[in-house]
Amino acid sequence: MTDTFPTAPSVGTSMPAQHPSQEARDFLALRRSANKAFISTPGPTPQQLDELLAATTRVPDHRRLEPWRFIVFEGEAREKFGDAAARVQEEEAPQAGFKALEETRGLLMRAPTVVAVISSPKDDNKTPIWEQELSAGALCYNLLLTANAAGWAGCWLTEWISFSSGINKVLGLERGERIAGFIYLGTATMDPQERARPEATPVQRWTATD
Ligand SMILES: Cc1cc2nc3c(=O)[nH]c(=O)nc-3n(C[C@H](O)[C@H](O)[C@H](O)COP(=O)(O)O)c2cc1C
Repeated sequence: MTDTFPTAPSVGTSMPAQHPSQEARDFLALRRSANKAFISTPGPTPQQLDELLAATTRVPDHRRLEPWRFIVFEGEAREKFGDAAARVQEEEAPQAGFKALEETRGLLMRAPTVVAVISSPKDDNKTPIWEQELSAGALCYNLLLTANAAGWAGCWLTEWISFSSGINKVLGLERGERIAGFIYLGTATMDPQERARPEATPVQRWTATD
């Protein structure tokens, strides 16, 4: 299902700073995440996913630090992660019952392909960590967009597995690294409905005051 993405031109090539397109406007204005309970097979093949991830990294990134990385879960790796996560949960939340542990084992089974986006800020003594973490957030969103554009349904979830030191250890995160989110990708078995959208986000046109 994935159509190919153009490869990036060589460094220094003149690039358009705008890209007017009704199709792109429709896509952005009507974008919708898939419902996490309705993402099934097929998902992207490993080759399609690699292409998707390469296109996804075209995000704003101050000083080109690439302060992020991906961890991909496909096939039985999803189940193995679930087992490891349940063991972490038993340690971190001993009160968790059988049902909660079963839920944990099934977390990554909710989609054929799951990509953890890892915020991996670099210490260059110049670029604030906050900026680098924002870039990781942009990467998560861009993965949703590129996946949608390639024909895949997607959803950005965090849940407790994004905020656990035990899970960070299972995934081999280094000091300072954090999970920005798990992006679930596949084919929607049921289209989501529109949900309420912001109607009155505060927009202040700043004027200087004395
Ligand atoms: C950082 C982040 C974490 C999220 N984590 C969850 C989550 O753990 N569970 C959940 O149901 N939705 C979560 N969401 C919300 C969904 O990804 C999605 O945005 C929401 O269902 C609305 O759909 P929409 O993207 O079409 O507006 C999260 C969103 C963001 C930005």
